Amino acid sequence: MTVETPVVHLRGGGTSLVVTTSGARLPRVLHWGPDLGDLTDADLATMETTASPAIGDSAVTYPQPVPVVAQLAEGWLGRPGVVGDRSGAHWAPRFVVDDVVVERASDIQRLRVASSDDAYALTLGVELEVLASGLVRVRAEVGNRGGTPYEVRALELGLPVPPTATELCDLAGRWALERVPQRRPFDVGTWVRESRGGKPGLEHAFMMLAGEQGFANRSGRVWGVHLGWSGNHALVAERTPAGSRRLSGGELPWPGELVLEPGTSSTTPWLYGSWGEGLDDLSHRVHRWMRSRPTHPRAPRPVLLNTWEAVYFQHDLATLERLAEAGAAVGVERFVLDDGWFTGRRDDTTSLGDWTVDSTVWPDGIDALADRVRELGMDFGIWFEPEMVNLDSDLARNHPEWVFDAGHGPGMASRHQHVLDLAHPEAYRHVRDAMSEVVDRLGVAYVKWDHNRYLLDAGHTPTGRAGVREQTLAAYALMAELKERHPGLEIESCASGGGRVDLGVLQLTDRVWASDCNDPHDRLEIQRWTRLLVPPELQGTHIGARESHTTHRVHPLDFRAQVALWGHLGIETNLLEASPDELDEVRAWVAFHQAHRSLLHSGDVVHADLGDPALRLEGVVATDRSEAIFQLAVVDRPITWPPGRVAVPGLDPERRYRVRQVSPVERSGSGVLPPWTAVAEGVVLPGVVLSQVGIEATSLDPDRGVLWHLTAE
Ligand code: DGJ
Repeated sequence: MTVETPVVHLRGGGTSLVVTTSGARLPRVLHWGPDLGDLTDADLATMETTASPAIGDSAVTYPQPVPVVAQLAEGWLGRPGVVGDRSGAHWAPRFVVDDVVVERASDIQRLRVASSDDAYALTLGVELEVLASGLVRVRAEVGNRGGTPYEVRALELGLPVPPTATELCDLAGRWALERVPQRRPFDVGTWVRESRGGKPGLEHAFMMLAGEQGFANRSGRVWGVHLGWSGNHALVAERTPAGSRRLSGGELPWPGELVLEPGTSSTTPWLYGSWGEGLDDLSHRVHRWMRSRPTHPRAPRPVLLNTWEAVYFQHDLATLERLAEAGAAVGVERFVLDDGWFTGRRDDTTSLGDWTVDSTVWPDGIDALADRVRELGMDFGIWFEPEMVNLDSDLARNHPEWVFDAGHGPGMASRHQHVLDLAHPEAYRHVRDAMSEVVDRLGVAYVKWDHNRYLLDAGHTPTGRAGVREQTLAAYALMAELKERHPGLEIESCASGGGRVDLGVLQLTDRVWASDCNDPHDRLEIQRWTRLLVPPELQGTHIGARESHTTHRVHPLDFRAQVALWGHLGIETNLLEASPDELDEVRAWVAFHQAHRSLLHSGDVVHADLGDPALRLEGVVATDRSEAIFQLAVVDRPITWPPGRVAVPGLDPERRYRVRQVSPVERSGSGVLPPWTAVAEGVVLPGVVLSQVGIEATSLDPDRGVLWHLTAE
């Protein structure tokens, strides 16, 4: 319906978004945050009046409330929304609203705004949605009605946060240590985090968060934005001298990448926005929406065995069959053959692109292994790196023109590899058909899709024009097409570990590999921050080797398994080297995971805020609050000893819970147990006592943990 009043109130999942288009101006947000209840049109109009600032000597530079698409012509001196031009002209658009439509359904409330700039022959559509979970998302479509091309150089969308949001947080990282939070004051100026490598990257900002001073897991109101896009983009926090605070994001096209020919348009990726009373609340809005999607994996996540850290490139049928048998014997449900299976691939220096089975290593093909895997009751997965090529490969020798080249040759190698330009239709078809053939022939249920080189000077041949954006779209198209051709096929997004984890790729994939680091000490942190957006069932968490292959720290099996328990569980260590006792222990952990995964993969993730940084308490609480599992992990030496009581968050204060310290195995190391843990049937306490007072923590050495199981009486 076309709206009467220019102020629109969208609601859902505890969130209100109040937006005005008065004066036929592009949408400006009067409120994004807690639900305001029923408001009359008069209330909304008064809200707008009371949001207008006092203006002294100049109407310029006071664009309150904060615009979704900022325009120079409306007095915005910060980062502009649409940046573009028509051969140098038409660079300062002023869009005027033509139509406003509100749609309200049970799962979504949507505002569509159509606008145009007649002088520039441009159109701009803006869509704002509040989803049932309270997640907000925004996107825009810019169109060219002129007779000549219009180049869009940036299109950034933003949402406001109030002046109480004084602290910023975003994530940094590197290989095998992704998603490390960093905080700073929200000062006047602009804090920009850019991904310019053709993927979000290992150092991806992930989410730009702004919140009340000291916002934590369970307290402090906090807002955050994320761009659902796997290509180049920026996430921005900006505080203007006029007092606006805004979180924004948008693609970063290279010159020539986003040229609108006459009569065409282009739509931005979704900018997602979530808020919460603490980070857990913010994450729940994202997780609940993810879980409501029809494409969300619903079957129990099969425990998998990945061959990478078990055998690396040493593929031989007999060993891999024995590994599959060992996996099946401990309860594995999916066997994933990692890198090293295709023609010529004996190490990482050659052969990416030659996606046929290596006949020297596999004289009779991989069929026998895939069949054996299925005979053992597991499904079969395989590794590809479809967007990459080694110059030492038949593919690159036959089609050097398919390798990106911006005019100076293929450029720097990284891990000895280059990027295959999938925007060449023949290159795309070649890779698609080669993958499809392997998937068909071997009955592949799961593709681990890797991406190990950043896209730097990625130019199409022969023009040399920038090709990063088209590559991102081609990778999406290839994923979608493979899934269409092979119904039920699951895809894992991996990029040297967690280098391509975003809500764009997650609309086409079923799992992300959070990190190449399987060291449980670091993994606790990496997984916690990946959970900011990604629900646990979509996050690969593996039991790695005793001595971590990335950090060389040594950890007992029970701690490695406890940390891996929460996500989509896997095993990534050589079970053929494990003792019978260790195999029993792995079997017990896998069975424990299988017994509890329906809770682990459907409940709300909660993280306690404890005073001592050496202690962590985090868990999953059923959405009806009837059951919960927590892990207490000690990651450093607590300053005081014993550690004292810890409050258990997320429970129903009105219900009584039976609490048991549980373990599928006998624990290693020197835990000193508090008396309550010795009560075999557990202790019963009201939720309010557990969450306000807490229970005594087990005294543990560093990198040790225990599990608590809670059931409502
Ligand atoms: C990088 C990935 O992150 C690893 O898990 C593994 O698949 C290797 N690539 C294989 O080359």
